[in-house]
Amino acid sequence: PPLEPFAPIVMQWQKRAGRHHLPWQGTRDPYRIWLSEIMLQQTQVSAVIGYYQRFLERFPDIRSLAAASQDEVMPYWAGLGYYARARNLHRCAQEIIAHWNGSFPPTAEQISTLPGIGRSTAAAIAAFAYGERSPIMDGNVRRVFCRYFGIDGPTGKTSTEAELWETAERIVAAAPASLDMAAYTQGLMDLGATVCTRGMPDCAACPVNTHCIARQTGRQTELPVPRQK
Ligand code: ADE
Repeated sequence: PPLEPFAPIVMQWQKRAGRHHLPWQGTRDPYRIWLSEIMLQQTQVSAVIGYYQRFLERFPDIRSLAAASQDEVMPYWAGLGYYARARNLHRCAQEIIAHWNGSFPPTAEQISTLPGIGRSTAAAIAAFAYGERSPIMDGNVRRVFCRYFGIDGPTGKTSTEAELWETAERIVAAAPASLDMAAYTQGLMDLGATVCTRGMPDCAACPVNTHCIARQTGRQTELPVPRQK
């Protein structure tokens, strides 16, 4: 399938049909974006919204979070699960104060050196906050790419993951300079969450359905191929 139109089409679809009223949208504050991305790891949007708002009321910026103790932070995470995320969040805040003079690192690569922040989360933060052209690769995006490009290696396998990341990079590289990286990145997430879903995707509603390999070959429910156990 053609690489070049993919990102502009997904970007335009996001602007028209994507999600626009999530509380972490419409800000370029890296602190707020970072908090939302950490909370959204392994956790549904609907579960995160209330926690996100309460957390920001108590800790409105990185300085207030870094100044708090771990014990003061944990109650604001209680019930969200995966508590290592909260401990890493607090450690990140302290590291940003100590080593980055209180401001969030300016590139995805630098963001990814912080505790508990992997490549995809770092890229999402940099795309939303700075418009950096750094691709993401989370569970939803992996499903979209495996289907669209017909990538049928087991997910989690080193060679499959390398192919997915390389494809994600080539798409961004092939897109025009005018690409709105925040809208494209959100569009990928929205496409995976609302159209290219697990089980039976809504291919009729998909903006890139004409060139999708899985749709052309009827393999929507076979892709992505789960990692072998
Ligand atoms: N999951 C991870 N990041 C997200 C975002 N920015 N919006 C919606 N769901 C997400």
